[in-house]
Amino acid sequence: MSGPCVIGVLVSGSGTNLENIALRVEEGFIPGRIAIVISDVEEAYGLVRARRMGLEAVFIDPRSFPDRSSYDRELIRMLAERGVDLVVLAGYMKLVGPEFVSAFRERIMNIHPALLPSFPGTSGVADALAYGVKVTGVTVHFVDEGLDTGPIILQEAVPVLPGDDEETLHQRIHEVEYRLYPEAIRAFCEGRLRIVGRRVEILE
Ligand code: GAR
Repeated sequence: MSGPCVIGVLVSGSGTNLENIALRVEEGFIPGRIAIVISDVEEAYGLVRARRMGLEAVFIDPRSFPDRSSYDRELIRMLAERGVDLVVLAGYMKLVGPEFVSAFRERIMNIHPALLPSFPGTSGVADALAYGVKVTGVTVHFVDEGLDTGPIILQEAVPVLPGDDEETLHQRIHEVEYRLYPEAIRAFCEGRLRIVGRRVEILE
């Protein structure tokens, strides 16, 4: 990568990870810049946070496209137009399709609120609680064609405490997410991530 790392962020919801990443970019911990924030949900609060921080933030309505692949092509076009090097999924709840994955192969990251491969999908916190695990956690991984199946970059455990409900557990998971995601993005932007098969090596 020549020059600073250009980042595009996709959100569907509250956008606290997005805001935290944007702060870490502002303070120089992540050597890059956020070129655009895109949401598939019009009322996503992440769009408000993004605009408040002076970032370009757009809602692209999936219903104005006949299918997922034409929606994804529009996203690819917008991201490529801005020279995006790394696509960061931050609470993006739509599955990206194969064309999107191949357009940004090994350049899409996701954060998941559980220890993959346990509890993939959109309700990782609730599923872990319902299962009764004593330990869950956070996973940052590259995105491949599967559902939360790509090579794992960073993982950290979070204990499930007696009396936890989805909100208290998710709050502690969020605290770990705010630390792990910037670390992984920084390592990518510094060219320190190497994918070898299913394993991701983090170079010093
Ligand atoms: C985060 O906890 C993230 O791990 C999760 O959504 C939350 C978004 O919070 N992502 C998934 O469940 C992806 N399947 P935020 O909008 O406040 O950053």
